[in-house]
Amino acid sequence: ETVDWNPEQAGKGGYDHFMLKEIHEQPTSLSQAIEGRIDPADGHLSLDGFEPDTFESVEDVQLVACGTSYHAALYGSLALNRAGVPATALLANEYSVTSPPVSEDTLVIAVSQSGETADTLNALRQADERGADTLTVTNVVGSTAARVADDSLFIRAGPEIGVAATKTFSSQAVMVTLLAQRIADDARGDPPADLESLLPDLSRMPDEIDTLLETSDADAIAREYIDSQAYFFIGRGLGFPVALEGALKFKEITYEHAEGFASGELKHGPLALVTPETPVFAIFTGEEDEKTLKNAEETQTRGAPVIAICPDDHRAVEVADDHLEIPETDSNLAGLHANVQLQLVSYYAADLLGRPIDKPRNLAKSVTVE
Ligand code: G6P
Repeated sequence: ETVDWNPEQAGKGGYDHFMLKEIHEQPTSLSQAIEGRIDPADGHLSLDGFEPDTFESVEDVQLVACGTSYHAALYGSLALNRAGVPATALLANEYSVTSPPVSEDTLVIAVSQSGETADTLNALRQADERGADTLTVTNVVGSTAARVADDSLFIRAGPEIGVAATKTFSSQAVMVTLLAQRIADDARGDPPADLESLLPDLSRMPDEIDTLLETSDADAIAREYIDSQAYFFIGRGLGFPVALEGALKFKEITYEHAEGFASGELKHGPLALVTPETPVFAIFTGEEDEKTLKNAEETQTRGAPVIAICPDDHRAVEVADDHLEIPETDSNLAGLHANVQLQLVSYYAADLLGRPIDKPRNLAKSVTVE
């Protein structure tokens, strides 16, 4: 007797798509990212063989990346600025033409899941030639980025098959958040105040994501808004890169028009696009949430349904048309919980539309040409 056995199906571990499997792997991949990297005694971050004070002379940081990794890079740059270290995130493919000044005290961090993206490698090599210190945050040990950069920090997310990055984004964002704290600690001589609230919430994160995945209403929300004309995502502070990533994920796998905006930018143009046919996903991270709520209400006035992504007892729940729940957590991490809800919304919307979720048209997992 034989049973039908298809290695690809088996690799999906019972899920219909690699993307859904990888979304559900996040409690594990995040635990792996954090494991052994925080000293429970003093909260000091021990990052893969980086000696104490490795980053002592860092004056400024440039993060270079493409696609989803660029959103993690932007997340890291905001975390660095917040911790008192000047930082900029740059699209790697713009790096050669925008050429921001570097000094020998500039640290250039290339964020790349594969470590093989041509644009990112070009920026990394250019930074090196110009005399900057270089570091890569990557998933692949032995990748070109890991060989080219002076140092590497591995996100340990495990292989990701779905073209649309999911679990690797959350691990990248957590790693750059920890790295930001460590750089600030070394360069400024004292750990940023954020660290005390961040670390316990970080260790709770894998379990909280597990609960979020079990209880999410994302499939119902995707179904409710499936006939919309366009999908908008808004956020402020660390919610902004998450808004960009929410929109990128949505357009990549649903082929629908999706855009991410900084909440405060809506009134400077995007509001002209808002109609009852354009749901607005509003991300609340605990950073000036009242302002984001006001921006969301301005879209409601134009008829747009608002889906608030926030804790259950947040004021936005009363105002919004719908709600996706995230736990009460440190504002450095809230956006990453919101991102998991948005990954699920994209997934279920793409599934309802019958898209080939793991291999969207015209896209490749790793782009090794310029
Ligand atoms: C491609 C993929 C994206 C990815 C980007 C950067 O465009 O489709 O999902 O974010 O490359 O890839 P990297 O491996 O450098 O993170």
